[in-house]
Amino acid sequence: MKPKILFLSFTLAWLAFNVKAQTTINLSAADNPKAPVISKYIYSHFAEHLGRGIYDGFFVGDTSKIPNTNGVRNDVIAALKKMKIPALRWPGGCFADTYHWKDGVGPKDKRPAMINKWWGGTVEDNSFGTNEFLNMCEVLGADPYISGNVGSGTVQELSDWVNYVSSDSKNPMSDLRKANGREKPWNVKFWGIGNEAWGCGGNMTPEYYANEFRKYSTFMTSWNNDSKIYRVASGASVDDYHWTETLMKNIPRDLIEGIALHHYAIIDWSHKSSATKFSKEEYFKTMKSTLFMDTLVAKHSAILDKYDPQKKVGLVVDEWGGWYDVEPGTNPGFLYQQNSMRDAMIAGSTLNIFNNHCDRVRMANLAQCINVLQSVILTQGDKMILTPTYYVMQMYNVHQNATLLPVAIASENYVLGSGKLPAISASASRDKDGIVHITLVNIDPDKTHKISINVSGKKFIKVTGSVLASASVNDYNSFEDPKKIQPKTFKDVDLKNDGIAINMPSASVVVLTLN
Ligand code: AHR
Repeated sequence: MKPKILFLSFTLAWLAFNVKAQTTINLSAADNPKAPVISKYIYSHFAEHLGRGIYDGFFVGDTSKIPNTNGVRNDVIAALKKMKIPALRWPGGCFADTYHWKDGVGPKDKRPAMINKWWGGTVEDNSFGTNEFLNMCEVLGADPYISGNVGSGTVQELSDWVNYVSSDSKNPMSDLRKANGREKPWNVKFWGIGNEAWGCGGNMTPEYYANEFRKYSTFMTSWNNDSKIYRVASGASVDDYHWTETLMKNIPRDLIEGIALHHYAIIDWSHKSSATKFSKEEYFKTMKSTLFMDTLVAKHSAILDKYDPQKKVGLVVDEWGGWYDVEPGTNPGFLYQQNSMRDAMIAGSTLNIFNNHCDRVRMANLAQCINVLQSVILTQGDKMILTPTYYVMQMYNVHQNATLLPVAIASENYVLGSGKLPAISASASRDKDGIVHITLVNIDPDKTHKISINVSGKKFIKVTGSVLASASVNDYNSFEDPKKIQPKTFKDVDLKNDGIAINMPSASVVVLTLN
């Protein structure tokens, strides 16, 4: 080969290997009075009586040496308030359809115990019940979302629960609440009518459940604040579109405000992978399952559009997140898992999906808040750590109740073997003060990606940012090294003319603020 040709081939090969991939994003920042608002409830959480989620997680009891407010850990309260938790779903999950709320109110020494049959067969002493949960929500500044028991409960029981927490008129249930020390009602707006009715909630067919829903929903009122109640039907598992279609066809619009959807980022139920020691292939598969949420939300929304073109019924993704093997040596029924940068990728990508579909997605609840599945907080005795997922939730809280700005993304791929996925996802919003925020995720664990954002419709003079990244996607915060992963100031960003140029580190989450 001639030296010139040799030089050219060498240069081209070097360029192909070293030049960073280029992604283009078109962001329209123009005012649009019809643009949807990103409901703050998309940033909601889920707390089930499962493993160390409630006991040890939120609640240590008021005689604990761990600093607490009415039994709820003060460090947890401070962290969740700082993250801006908007709503909390409780008491399950599968547990909800075994839970009889009257066992969890009144003097603690008189509350009967039960066996937690779904989660480890432990004894549930009912010391954390309705009053404890609702008082905790008040302290957190979070709206409660109660899952009612349809599987093993009765219409009367659920109707009584609504009255107990929300009724101001004189009736046996509001009298009971007052006798239990709470004069004013809490006024709970969000109610789930059963959970996973197709499975642990009663193994029902959609036709049968639709009828059950109609019956329960009819009596889900405290008769004095009807307009405030938001009733959520137990929704589909993943891509069971028939479930959504059947419910929407059979439930009258005046009985339903929301319909749920559950999807976990999971490799395979028979092979879930370690939460921290996962391979490149396992990481890729988890990301594939994560991004599938976009298809699910689009397809379930299309069914809702058919029956509810005015978009009155919200899609409520009240369980989502990564699900792995439990930590070695822990109770398999407790679902305790660590939380790595892989979880930060799941959180950032999924929240971008929800934001971009906020015309239909009105609430989403990450499963689960503390010490279970994809948690934002892990506790060990008096110690508490914040996970990478916590920091994503905190970075993204700028979108809560902000107006969605449309983004069109032409993303480079993240390639592994013969598989490929879009490397970059993004969403953007304008808050009430006119400040624009863009959140971006680069799921590619091996490459920095160069991104060019073209902004139209508004001029900006300043851009600042923060980034969450670490040397490896397998990295995590531990009790020994709790501050290994934390957001840092992002400097690799440049604002010029109508565009922003950034270099996004491998496996990172970035939030940009445009003034
Ligand atoms: O989040 C753990 C469990 O997953 C919930 O209890 C159930 O609803 C789902 O199957």
